[in-house]
Amino acid sequence: MRTFKQARWNEPLIMELGRHEEEIKDDFIKEISKYIPEKYIRRKLNIPNIPKTRVIRHFTRLTQMNYAIDLGLYPLGSCTMKYNPKYTEFILNQLSIDSIHPLQPPKTIQGLLLILYEFKNYLSEITGMDAFTLQPAAGAQGELTGALIIKKYHEVNGNKYKDEIIIPDSAHGTNPASAKMAGFKVVEIPSNKNGLVDLDALKSAVSKYTAGIMLTNPNTLGLFEKNVLTISNIIHEVNGLLYYDGANLNAIMGWARPGDMGFDIVHVNLHKTFATPHGGGGPGSGPVGVKEYLKEYLPIPYIDYQDGEYILRNDLKYTIGKVHGYYGNISVILRAYLYLINVGGRKLRYISGRAVVNSNYMLRKMIKIKGIELPYNPEEPRMHEFVVSLKKLKEDTGVSARDVSKRLLDYGLHPPTIYFPLIVEEAMMFEPTESASKDEIDEYIEALRLIINEAYENPSKLINAPQNTSVKRVDEAYGSRPKTMAPTYKWLKKRD
Ligand SMILES: Cc1ncc(COP(=O)(O)O)c(C=O)c1O
Repeated sequence: MRTFKQARWNEPLIMELGRHEEEIKDDFIKEISKYIPEKYIRRKLNIPNIPKTRVIRHFTRLTQMNYAIDLGLYPLGSCTMKYNPKYTEFILNQLSIDSIHPLQPPKTIQGLLLILYEFKNYLSEITGMDAFTLQPAAGAQGELTGALIIKKYHEVNGNKYKDEIIIPDSAHGTNPASAKMAGFKVVEIPSNKNGLVDLDALKSAVSKYTAGIMLTNPNTLGLFEKNVLTISNIIHEVNGLLYYDGANLNAIMGWARPGDMGFDIVHVNLHKTFATPHGGGGPGSGPVGVKEYLKEYLPIPYIDYQDGEYILRNDLKYTIGKVHGYYGNISVILRAYLYLINVGGRKLRYISGRAVVNSNYMLRKMIKIKGIELPYNPEEPRMHEFVVSLKKLKEDTGVSARDVSKRLLDYGLHPPTIYFPLIVEEAMMFEPTESASKDEIDEYIEALRLIINEAYENPSKLINAPQNTSVKRVDEAYGSRPKTMAPTYKWLKKRD
């Protein structure tokens, strides 16, 4: 096993580097006072003065104290942390996209609009939708956009009383949060023993108040919702809409389309599925696609093609308005476009297939390790991600999923997502993506095996981990399910 020790620099904050409050020289003041009255001239600026080399060294040191996708596997379930190809960065630099102003007349940016228009069409082809907006800046903002569209759709159609959104208990916290932000009541439904939507619970939860349902498929357990067409019929029968959380699109790209499963609205996380950097919480991009009959509800400006010209339309009849300035996060969208046209249609299918194969390979090796169990239908293959439980390990040794994750850092490996989805105790959610090689997966499993052995033999090693990183264990806010994620309205409490 490779040994690991992260750099540890005693690096100050950038604001602590360099001299502040430097006095502006008198001769400058004299010159400037010809144009600006003396009383408005600032003599001191509280901004550090740092030579370029120190700035570079400062940030290089910080990167040495960090982990990145270019350093190794990053198997954060639900986040699809794939390798970000360098050619997209190179081409983007050549395009000098930053020299275009967002307020330039469309006639002067026809090339850019052509790319955006084409990209929307590709997303429609992949998802089975008819029209897209590229505005939302993340998956969560896509969800809010979708929820606002559902709201407006019911208002326009005289069904304003439809104020409930159904969400399974395996959903990501952003789903209920977005529904709530759009003004809906959240009706949570439980998963069945196989980890799928419980159809009886769904039927009991559905009523004339149902505005729609938010689902991801495969779900956050990595299981394909086999009953998705039945779910779609149940919701459509009461004139509800189906929203597809596209966080897991990497599992089915090129193989199956949410549009064919009955979904009316989808979002796609470009920063996951199309290999663009996630950044420190952004910038991301979460385009939203809809079926034809919802096109007029999309945000404006809407990029369209008419009479041989790419145009920005502001005349969509029922538009929910703007959800982001101008066109969205252009630099993320362009990276995703470049990735898409470089890999092409056939390879997209290969990518998803490989992501699923990698995930199942990793899973089958992992569950041979003592203390690690696969809840919910353990015989069923998973899609691009899987969730194991360390409940048994905790019972045997007192060591938690959090401790194991911290110890993985000591081996120079990025831990998986933990404690999500909320329906699995001591959850660890792995998504190796198609970028992982067999060797890397084997190495990861070997490290995990060594760590679990340590847990049984010397648990203090895990409880005090990490020791080899620049920052040791930080003080974390532990707690139960945050109130904001709690359902406001349980499916059992039925209204008239
Ligand atoms: C299942 C699921 N839905 C929604 C989101 C929200 O996406 P974003 O982080 O782009 O806002 C995530 C993010 O990890 C997710 O995993």
